Amino acid sequence: MTGLSSFRCVACGMSFALAETRLACSSCGGLLDVVSNLRAFGRTGAAWRDLFDRRRAASPSEATRPFETSGVWRFREHVLPDLPEDGIVSKPEGATRLYAGGALGEELSLSRLFVKHEGENPTLSFKDRGMTVGVSWARASGFKTVACASTGDTSAALAAYAAEVPGMRAVVLLPQGKITDEQLGQALASGATTLGLDTDFDGCMRLVAELTAARPVFLLNSKNPVRIEGQKTIAWEAIQDLGWRVPDWIVVPVGNAGNLSAIGKGLREWLDLGVIGKKPRLAGIQASAADPFFQSYRRGFTERVTCVAGDTAASAIRIGAPVSHPKAEREIRFFEGVVESVTEAELLDAFALANRHGLAICPNSAVALAGAAKLRQAGVIREADLVVVVATAHALKFSGTMSAYHRGGGRLANPPRLLPATLDAILAALGEP
Ligand code: F0G
Repeated sequence: MTGLSSFRCVACGMSFALAETRLACSSCGGLLDVVSNLRAFGRTGAAWRDLFDRRRAASPSEATRPFETSGVWRFREHVLPDLPEDGIVSKPEGATRLYAGGALGEELSLSRLFVKHEGENPTLSFKDRGMTVGVSWARASGFKTVACASTGDTSAALAAYAAEVPGMRAVVLLPQGKITDEQLGQALASGATTLGLDTDFDGCMRLVAELTAARPVFLLNSKNPVRIEGQKTIAWEAIQDLGWRVPDWIVVPVGNAGNLSAIGKGLREWLDLGVIGKKPRLAGIQASAADPFFQSYRRGFTERVTCVAGDTAASAIRIGAPVSHPKAEREIRFFEGVVESVTEAELLDAFALANRHGLAICPNSAVALAGAAKLRQAGVIREADLVVVVATAHALKFSGTMSAYHRGGGRLANPPRLLPATLDAILAALGEP
């Protein structure tokens, strides 16, 4: 079915055709949502759940096209119904594991903790869920160049998805010296035109907006409402993984605030369609070095705080002016959400703790985990609450932080020991059996 979707301004409500490939309202400059008439399919909530379960259970050997095993396109009618199936660029992505917290949960007094590990996506972050939609739509709209500003994960995903499309160029604007070597290597390896700029992420964001205004270049930051339609599927998939139980809490790290916005939007759509019957609560967590959204929340959202983002091990969320603030605020209000901020020590210890328990999650993901622990300690989250923490990227994109933590004096540090190459030295190091 096509013709189901259009853009609507979140501030003034003005509508625009999806084909206009807009990024902002021409009347008031507000952010845009994709709004789709999903009721036109005429299915009940139960019928949708059945359809998605059948697709999830299908064997990969039955799939004739990559997107049929994608955890994004499993929900394709609800993602971007106007995109023809033969236009989908998929690796495939999504279908990440939902890990039971086990001993990690016990240590944090969260007996029903789950971690949705988005680091298991093809480029090792949740951004792939957005890029499969964004790059597909860019191609369908006739764009030959796609671009983004990035703290390292969006650029890796953009580069990798653009590389799937013959003749498509990816241009990535990166804050020089503020992303990891692994992330930089990903953009280079996929052949993106990679520009390191002497500014921070917010500076790159302003410049990429100017670039896309000056040239026919499709912007694929989360400001692009089409891209984040794919990210709605993180929470949808987690709920399906839980056998359609809706968690009490979904906890998300917040940088530019696109992901929290996408997750909230998707949940509202499923409530409306009757796919789910209960609202979870949302928690958005920031690192204290870059927590403008938290500062706004603390002021009851009476003002939109921005800041110069400071240095943090959670470098992917080192953002001082979250572009999607208005959308994220809307979701926090609707889902009776909370916003919290965690210190470097808290996030680094959570990073080490999760990895100690075998969950290879990144420092940005650890911000969410540390936030969940903090909200638990404060009694906001209760011991028996069903909690899904969204881990947004893989630990090994941030291996420098991991080895620095263990070589340094962190609470859970496990430093390597350098020894002479003799059995005696090894036995002495091991101590008594
Ligand atoms: N976690 C990771 C690993 C990220 O890379 C990002 C954002 C976030 C969380 C926050 O998501 O911005 O939607 O609130 N990374 C962007 C990038 C900014 O360029 O890779 P958000």
